[in-house]
Amino acid sequence: MRPAADRRTDAAAARRRWLAWTALLGLLLAGCATEGLPQSAMDPAGPVARIEDSLWNRVFPLAVGVFVLVQGLILWAVFRYRDRGGDDIPKQVAGNTRLEVMWTLIPALILVGIAIPTVGTIFQLSSAPGDAALDVRVVGKQYWWEFEYLDQEAQGVVTANELHIPTGRPVYLQMQSLSSTQPDPGLEAAPEFSQPVSAGVIHSFWVPRLAGKQDVVPGHTRRMTIEADEPGRYPGQCAEFCGLSHARMRFEVVAHEPAEFEAWIAAQAEPAATPGDALAQEGEALFEEATCIACHAIDGYEESTGSAAAVRIGPNLTHFASRERFAGGVIENNEESIRAWLANPPGVKAGAQMPNLGLSEGDIDALTAYLQTLE
Ligand code: CUA
Repeated sequence: MRPAADRRTDAAAARRRWLAWTALLGLLLAGCATEGLPQSAMDPAGPVARIEDSLWNRVFPLAVGVFVLVQGLILWAVFRYRDRGGDDIPKQVAGNTRLEVMWTLIPALILVGIAIPTVGTIFQLSSAPGDAALDVRVVGKQYWWEFEYLDQEAQGVVTANELHIPTGRPVYLQMQSLSSTQPDPGLEAAPEFSQPVSAGVIHSFWVPRLAGKQDVVPGHTRRMTIEADEPGRYPGQCAEFCGLSHARMRFEVVAHEPAEFEAWIAAQAEPAATPGDALAQEGEALFEEATCIACHAIDGYEESTGSAAAVRIGPNLTHFASRERFAGGVIENNEESIRAWLANPPGVKAGAQMPNLGLSEGDIDALTAYLQTLE
């Protein structure tokens, strides 16, 4: 009989093993959750995402079938022909033409079966939507997304991190990557392959419920279509490692009923509000003195600065206060977080290219008050 202490240790080890397996199983089953997953490609919310999802629905069962068959055969062979001790070396076989033809032909046929719908889907998704589409230029920067509405009706609205779209209408995205420190050559002035490679880094635009990933590559203009059926907020994120704050390069697609979208565009096309109270006015003056204006455009800000609207180093702040989040869609837009951000941007978000400007408490009060007037 073993000592009691040993038996207690065995029991403790068994309990730990049981706990570890339960935790692992729980973790695996969590992958099957269907509720509260705003970024699931298997819950498509528009025609583009549905086309992709239907391809998955056709290919996945086939893949499961192959997996089960192959693994099943392996397990069967392992157990059926295991060494039972005392056996002689089995008959050695070299080459079996019938088997070899079979295991070459069957996978080849399966691959052809997968390739036909896959290639068809690729062509279907890469064709440009018609004239009715809303055209938006998407620019990936470190680490935030800029959206510029290209249609005449949108009057050159530029926003950041929130892509507002109408429901039931395809949105054609023309996507580029630019460095924050280089002047923007514009979509027209930047034909395919003409930008220097140093123009930016590779990002990837991904709104799982609306469309698959699209890499945004420096020197190229990449295009994709998204569309949402229902109004709502669809979270997305950069899906390609692009530097220190890659994980904090999020965004949201906000879909509105068409009439609501028109109203949103009209409001965004308005020049910035003029601040009423003294503190915000002080902030407005500081916006120029503290050189914020060198990187951030505010449409309608001080005619004398002239080129302000062309400045596209940082996000366009014309209607900053209308956005729910800022700094790559990771920080809730409220007084407290604006203050923290102004005090030390890279301290709030590692790698942020806005430097710590050494603003005084008073400057921060005034700038925060001003930014909050920019509805
Ligand atoms: Cu941009 Cu990762």
